[in-house]
Amino acid sequence: MSPSSIRNRKLIIQKHLLMWYKKNARPLPWRKTKNPYRILLSEIMLQQTQVSRVMLKYPEFVRQFPNFACLAQARTADVIRAWSGMGYNNRALRLQQISRCVINDYGGRLPQDVETLQQLPGIGRYTANAVACFAFGLQTAAVDINEERVLSRLFPQRAQASDIWKLAEQMLPKGKAYDWNQALMELGGIICTATNPQCFECPLKQDCPSAFSTLKKKKPLKRKSQTTIPNRIYRGRIIATLRMIARHRSIEANLLAKTVKPDYSFRQKEWLDKLLDGLLRDGLIQIRSYNKKIYLSLPR
Ligand code: ADE
Repeated sequence: MSPSSIRNRKLIIQKHLLMWYKKNARPLPWRKTKNPYRILLSEIMLQQTQVSRVMLKYPEFVRQFPNFACLAQARTADVIRAWSGMGYNNRALRLQQISRCVINDYGGRLPQDVETLQQLPGIGRYTANAVACFAFGLQTAAVDINEERVLSRLFPQRAQASDIWKLAEQMLPKGKAYDWNQALMELGGIICTATNPQCFECPLKQDCPSAFSTLKKKKPLKRKSQTTIPNRIYRGRIIATLRMIARHRSIEANLLAKTVKPDYSFRQKEWLDKLLDGLLRDGLIQIRSYNKKIYLSLPR
């Protein structure tokens, strides 16, 4: 490939992914803030816990401990209690240690540069770069497991031969690091998943040499484990998502489904319809259709 065709491919991938993200980004609460405490909290929560679970816990935790000062002063037992349901409780401890460090050593402000962030307890290269990018606007790559998988599938040879971080830096669109990193994580989280990628729905299917090649999976096993989450959990997630949407706003049904069930695909439409029918019957949601699409909100 000539340098100009490599550059063209990069520009096309950037354009396709950013356009897709603009339309399909889930309304995750940490995407509505640049507050360093909230961004750091979300990244630490997301380190070992699924987005759907973090979505439920994050608003509750922020309400109880709204900033570094509150968390630094809190009793550790209360912090651990507030972390319940998230697992890996040592993250709660580290978060409190970081808060105390921020208050005692940095005058209450989270340091902005990546090197200093990495010296705080439990902050590795990914988290430091993610916080610098999402809270402070640094134009940097932030390679988490999702981003790494997407880039490796898009550039299988490069990813093997070179440092994935170097590749990620080279792929950054100028001035758009925030959306780009979020978009890569979003794609890796809901479409380009590890075991069951939804290549038919991928905005990069024409640009990706790995497209459709990882589809030969042991599906029966996957299906079995998917159905083990009871529908009441999904009902809870749907209501939690609708609660986060501003008053008098609604969310399109497929986007909502992807938000509460990252591996949702159109093949599960019947399941979604039944779930929504139940919520509607119970008076918990409101449904309207517009332009052949279904939109949902909480009852007025
Ligand atoms: N995983 C880690 N950080 C994330 C983010 N900001 N959005 C979605 N998934 C993530």
